[in-house]
Amino acid sequence: MAESGHVSNGGAPDGHHADHHHGDAEFVVVANRLPVDKEVLPDGTVNWKRSPGGLVTALEPILRSQTGAWVGWSGIADSDDNPDIEGIDIHAVPLSTREIAEYYEGFSNATLWPLYHDVLVKPEYHREWWNTYVEVNRRFAEKAAEAAGEGAIVWIQDYQLQLVPKMLRMLRPDLRIGFFLHIPFPPVELFMQLPWRTEIVEGLLGADLIGFHLPGGAQNFLFLARRLAGQATSKGTVGVRSRFGVVQVGFRTVRVGAFPISIDSGDLDTKSKSKEIRTRAAALREELGNPKTIMLGVDRLDYTKGIDVRLKALSELLAEKRIDPADTVMIQLATPSRERVDSYVRMRAGIEQLVGNINGTYGNVGQPVVQYLHRPVPRDELIAFFVAADVMLVTPLRDGMNLVAKEYVACRSDLGGALVLSEFTGAAAELRSAYQANPYDLDGVKDAIEAAVEQSTQEGRRRMRALRRQVLTHDVAKWAESFLGALASTTETASDANRGVHLVTGSESGTDS
Ligand code: ADP
Ligand code: F6P
Repeated sequence: MAESGHVSNGGAPDGHHADHHHGDAEFVVVANRLPVDKEVLPDGTVNWKRSPGGLVTALEPILRSQTGAWVGWSGIADSDDNPDIEGIDIHAVPLSTREIAEYYEGFSNATLWPLYHDVLVKPEYHREWWNTYVEVNRRFAEKAAEAAGEGAIVWIQDYQLQLVPKMLRMLRPDLRIGFFLHIPFPPVELFMQLPWRTEIVEGLLGADLIGFHLPGGAQNFLFLARRLAGQATSKGTVGVRSRFGVVQVGFRTVRVGAFPISIDSGDLDTKSKSKEIRTRAAALREELGNPKTIMLGVDRLDYTKGIDVRLKALSELLAEKRIDPADTVMIQLATPSRERVDSYVRMRAGIEQLVGNINGTYGNVGQPVVQYLHRPVPRDELIAFFVAADVMLVTPLRDGMNLVAKEYVACRSDLGGALVLSEFTGAAAELRSAYQANPYDLDGVKDAIEAAVEQSTQEGRRRMRALRRQVLTHDVAKWAESFLGALASTTETASDANRGVHLVTGSESGTDS
């Protein structure tokens, strides 16, 4: 169903909800992934590793600091094991092989991901994928309804679960529901491509509070809510009115705002100062042959991250002799990601070719210019890389926030190092003292890298001090506090609002501006 014949009130019309068992969690996070990823070794042993991506980096410390439940998928097919994690009550949502292909690799990562990231690759629209997305979202909503205690706060995360707010509200009108989008919310013109645009907007409007990283995303959503939700149908309409920060869905008020996510900066600051990390960072430099400049890239291997941009910039700087291969090393740490999605397979081949090309042209035996690892590195090792790197390269073509940029800054209490940062990351709005560049302007990226390599100690310290002030004072605890504070202050209780929902018909309805 695209946009017609559908009357929505964003909630349960009669205030009743399905008969089911309530859990007792007062706070529930619902995310596509659990904080840990299940791995079954060839001998059958089960291993739980940290899950990839920024969402887990941000939310894990939040859930450790306040007891709660986490509803999510283990990362492999047909598993409903609940791993033991201290302080977090895990509720695994099983997915079949078909569901992984259609909901996760398909609709989430070959439809929504490219659509929400400036259509960097062409989004694919398949009805079967959509149907599976709906089914799987319903399963997440049911699991969340089971885990949550009466009147609990449920915080739904990211683009994989945009229908869950409305589905959960239908099941449990007593809950207070928040939703946060960890990736960019696209410009209206692009979002309008989506055949199921109305369902997605209405799904999100089931929440009491919808959060985006940046005010621009919130504005795009407010415009779409007015345009798409509550359209006239033969059965009547629900009046959807939006003004900045608020959408009125019948009698229910949905708040919309910008909440730029962050990291546990204090923890990284402390760890990066430890003797072990300092020693390891010095050893890394030694192992690399004590080059004058170590450049570093740290990303999931994703086409949004602009890994190709920085490699092309480096290649041209070497060709123009603006960078000397004898005293420069670039390390690219790339976590494997979404490896069965076609666009990721193609992009990996392209990046590995660029790495081979640079090393073949400018490297020497035992002395490659680019050192590339296609695997995640342990957290402490990663911190040592941040401490050792003179220039951090963060060059996405589009990124909701980019936590790596903030992590690098948090690790530089020595005020050393320089950050090269794409203007098209959410982080660019906060990290104004970075060497910023437009990733589509290769000459601009090259100039930014060259300036970062050649900065004076004094200039570097000035910039890093300003960056650290921002990152250390705006950490992930503050982000969660600000979102959850706004959610708690939604005026009516969730259940009162749901009982009040009614359909506004005919001429009473309307959208205003
Ligand atoms: P995304 O959520 O799109 O992956 P972010 O930059 O916001 O991007 O978050 C990525 C997280 O994953 C960060 O915490 C970063 O340290 C971690 N990470 C990325 N690449 C690696 C890697 N190669 N090894 C270990 N951790 C990594
Ligand atoms: O916010 C970005 C994000 O897509 C998260 O939702 C996700 O968990 C993470 O990056 C890693 O991606 P994936 O779960 O597809 O491995």
